Amino acid sequence: MSDIRKANWVKSPMTQGDAAVVFHKQFSPAKEVAAATLEVSALGVYFAELNGERVGDFILAPGWTSYANRVQFQSYDVTAQLKAENDLAITLGKGWRFLSKESEAAPFLGFQDNALIAALRLDYADGDKEILFTDDSWQVTGSPIRYNNIYNGETYDAQFCPGEGRPAAVVDHDKHILISQQGEFVTEHERLPAMELIHTPAGETVIDFGQNVTGYLEFTIQGSPSHTAQINHTEVLDKDGNFYTENLRSAKQTVTFVCDGNKHTYKPKLTFYGFRYLRLIDWPDEVDLKNFTTIAVHSDMKRSGYFECGEPLVNQLFHNIIWGQKGNFLDVPTDCPQRDERLGWTGDAQVFVRTASYNFDVEKFFTKWLGDLKADQNEDGSVPHVIPASLGNMGGSAAWADAAVICPWQIYLSYGNKAILTKQYSSMKQWIEYMRANAKGFLWTTGFHFGDWLDLHDPEQKNGSFGSSPKELIASAYFYYSTSLFIKAGLVLGKDMSEYELLRENIGAAFRKRFMKEGKMKAKTQTACVLALYFGLTDQPEVTAAQLAERVRKAGHLTTGFVGTAYLMHALSDNGYASLAYDLLLRTECPSWLYQITMGATTIWERWDSMKPDGSMNDAGMTSFNHYAYGCVGDWLYGVAAGINTDESAPGFQHIVFRPIPDKRLGYVKASIESRQGVIRSEWRYEGDTVQYSFTVPEGCTATFLLEGKEIELLEGTHNFTK
Ligand code: BGC
Repeated sequence: MSDIRKANWVKSPMTQGDAAVVFHKQFSPAKEVAAATLEVSALGVYFAELNGERVGDFILAPGWTSYANRVQFQSYDVTAQLKAENDLAITLGKGWRFLSKESEAAPFLGFQDNALIAALRLDYADGDKEILFTDDSWQVTGSPIRYNNIYNGETYDAQFCPGEGRPAAVVDHDKHILISQQGEFVTEHERLPAMELIHTPAGETVIDFGQNVTGYLEFTIQGSPSHTAQINHTEVLDKDGNFYTENLRSAKQTVTFVCDGNKHTYKPKLTFYGFRYLRLIDWPDEVDLKNFTTIAVHSDMKRSGYFECGEPLVNQLFHNIIWGQKGNFLDVPTDCPQRDERLGWTGDAQVFVRTASYNFDVEKFFTKWLGDLKADQNEDGSVPHVIPASLGNMGGSAAWADAAVICPWQIYLSYGNKAILTKQYSSMKQWIEYMRANAKGFLWTTGFHFGDWLDLHDPEQKNGSFGSSPKELIASAYFYYSTSLFIKAGLVLGKDMSEYELLRENIGAAFRKRFMKEGKMKAKTQTACVLALYFGLTDQPEVTAAQLAERVRKAGHLTTGFVGTAYLMHALSDNGYASLAYDLLLRTECPSWLYQITMGATTIWERWDSMKPDGSMNDAGMTSFNHYAYGCVGDWLYGVAAGINTDESAPGFQHIVFRPIPDKRLGYVKASIESRQGVIRSEWRYEGDTVQYSFTVPEGCTATFLLEGKEIELLEGTHNFTK
């Protein structure tokens, strides 16, 4: 049983504004302590120090959730840090809290306010216990962190003098919202050294770390008292080699440091940055690259997937997919980590969830986020565009809101645990019912939709990003697809789904009648064909696939946006056009996955042409260089190029279906996924015109491999074939 709900929410008696504040509690245990446990949570973000030493390694605790409904608390064993006389100091910053649009409407302790709650339990060796709760005996002082903002950065004043403490103000706020830690801890990961010192044509001092990263900088600085230095962070240099920040929009991404004449090694504690390059302004010391280290920060997910092949550009693409995930899985799956957005966009998350679940173990990560999705889902079943719902309740876009169904289903498939379906079933159902209520004649032709976001057909793309595939086609296709997945989920849970089976058939028939003619899509976009094929809407797959292939060949490249790109490669390779899919994979001109690699990308770009071939930038209003969505091609690398697939009837890779489609241009492929059962490996290599295959099946699993039309059963162990 946790103690924290018996504590009081406390806030600063001073107006906190943009500065952080520190809550202190001094105490001396009455007798010998056997165990000491600190539980903490906050409306905002906090870090705790006991006797000057940091407690735990959670960065930006307690994480970001649906603040009105659920706030996680963390529990730390602090026994080893305890002394006879103790000073517990908890610094409280703003975190994501101010992002909510509900802030204006909310009264006291609304979304502009920060508060802390904590309980320190001392279990004495003689069996007695004592619990210190946050209350007005805690003293509040100012913090040397004079400014903190998730987008703009942090200001640290080494000369700051905190002065006398004042009693914390106890405030009345719901404690039922407190839940124990559900997601992964957010922690520090790679430490990247500075690679190059650049003096730009504009005369600025810039440092390159060689990798676009989400996290912060650790730096050493001295300077003379009161000297103020600044560090700006950005992702790219412009075509002249100058520091480019326009695509950050209003996000300042800055650290400001006020020196006191002593040497300090500092890293921000209440924010994060998306960057590869730094710009130093008014740097007081000689610039020595050894004094600058980038620390990557993300949810502490276990790495599970690896892919390698004979084409170095594809290997770099895979590297970029992994770093895109690291950079955007900081407690919430975000669109991007740099500009003034960094939100849990549902569409991006559903497009990428399968790739994400192969790269890393994200079961806990998505369980938490889907809990927030359910908590923030509107009463009519519509799902807000971003979760946590910091843009208010605006929602219900096809392919975005469908995250409510697609994500839990994929998490179930990847890890084989029904619990996520049980937890999310009512949320899935509400979303299906929302679509049903808004459909006319089984087609969903109304409402606001993002369409095939950022596709390449739309001549107006500069201003309008909604793509050229009809929105009612996309909405109706997702109505069908989500209903299909919902039926599968219901059947896994032993429910009668006949009502929804009928609904699915009716949507399918209406879709074909309205949007197709003799197996062809009336709207001649690649995405229209892709959805009909991948969702199983077409009753003449050969005809639709031939139409898709023709569209691809005619364009000479992909033209898909967020929606079509998710399934384009599968729609081709599942229907006999694998070689064309490989053409798309291996293309290096714009638009393509490898074009950005040739332009030096180290994470996945938001747009196919975020940077133009001449080095100029796309529309600064919406151009990020770290947006994982198009990294969804990762699931095709695992599932088709390497051919590792789970079987829906034995999910979580209890039964593995090896179905690689080799292509000579890759030379070889080596991939592995660490499933809950163990490590699955698939390798193939061209030797002249023959292909050598090798598959490893973990203990306790079974597998099949289709060789020359014959299904071969594989038991645990490693199996080799030549074809
Ligand atoms: C985000 C996207 C998101 C979109 C909605 C953008 O600003 O960065 O990734 O899905 O809005 O279409």
